[in-house]
Amino acid sequence: MTGIEAFVGELNILGRSFEERIGQVASLDDLESFKVEFLGRKGKLAAILDTLTALPPADRGTAGKNANYWKNFFSEAIDARRTALNRAEANAELSRFDPSLPGRRPYPGSLHPVTLVTQEICEVFTGLGFEVVSGPEVENDWYNFEALNIPPEHPARDMQDTLYVSESIVLRTHTSPLQVRSMMSGKPPLAVIAPGKVYRRDSDLTHTPMFHQIEGLLVDHQVSMAELRGTLTSFVQQLFGASVKVRFRPSFFPFTEPSAEVDISCVLCGGTGAIAGAPCRVCKTTGWVEILGCGMVDPNVFKAVGYDPDVYTGFAFGLGVERVAMLKYGIGDLRMFFENDVRFLEQFS
Ligand code: FA5
Ligand code: MG
Repeated sequence: MTGIEAFVGELNILGRSFEERIGQVASLDDLESFKVEFLGRKGKLAAILDTLTALPPADRGTAGKNANYWKNFFSEAIDARRTALNRAEANAELSRFDPSLPGRRPYPGSLHPVTLVTQEICEVFTGLGFEVVSGPEVENDWYNFEALNIPPEHPARDMQDTLYVSESIVLRTHTSPLQVRSMMSGKPPLAVIAPGKVYRRDSDLTHTPMFHQIEGLLVDHQVSMAELRGTLTSFVQQLFGASVKVRFRPSFFPFTEPSAEVDISCVLCGGTGAIAGAPCRVCKTTGWVEILGCGMVDPNVFKAVGYDPDVYTGFAFGLGVERVAMLKYGIGDLRMFFENDVRFLEQFS
């Protein structure tokens, strides 16, 4: 055999062994190594091509054409095999698909705990004859402060670090401007509650710059402090059960006189100040948690809205919704309400 015959003979042997084996390549991974074995830079075809320079120059053209023929043949056969293997894989996937299986349940979401507690509180008060009202979060200084007996320069403005929009416009620091708005747009007898967002420059473990309050206001002839106390006690017991203790603590608000803050016995530690020996974080070991401020409407507030304080009396209260929600659901950290962690929120669905 001459050099060129031996060269072509070896190519044919390689080609036959390729044809015998390609049908047995069963996976895409195996096909890649198979391709390297035949077409790689150090593969079997390259090894034969290395001997081409040993041929007489006149034979090299023929040798090159033969080698090219096989090279294209290998490439095309490998591509075809790849297509076939891909299709087989897709078919296998399809046969694993069971159309009789039930579909994935759609994810329904749930109401935020603050919304749930707000709804529950509003239900208790509408049951007592109160009407639900609302008002603007961006509020005029006059409604947020002045009409509530807090003139400019009054030190009480510092009690609630105010976020100012302009000199005379604020983000409401409490829901109490709704007392003013309700009295001006209606007439006694009045019994309203007003839930909503309020804003303060305040941020730590138990304070957030935005939180929710619910304002309550009742105006009529001869409303007494005893009615305020009875109403709020009944409310707390409807919400938390009859065993929860209620405490009225004398306090000060410019818009009520007399004023009180209401604490309830801490629902998390049962009023003991400790949970399994560890100090209770929610009541800070006192056994009590402040949930609202309240009092009898100050005569100056009546004057500001054009009501005669000799004819009308009333009570008002402002309750912190997050505080109530913490107690109701046993949540130890106020910030959980605003982090929007789905794992936290979906517990309330
Ligand atoms: C007031 O805002 C008064 N307007 C309440 C009031 C209304 C008194 C009507 C009398 C008559 P105070 O700043 O204490 O009061 O807030 C009321 C309640 O809101 C508190 O008892 C507390 O439960 C809640 N609260 C106050 N500050 C925060 C805060 N930064 N984060 C969460 N809750 C708060
Ligand atoms: Mg307070």
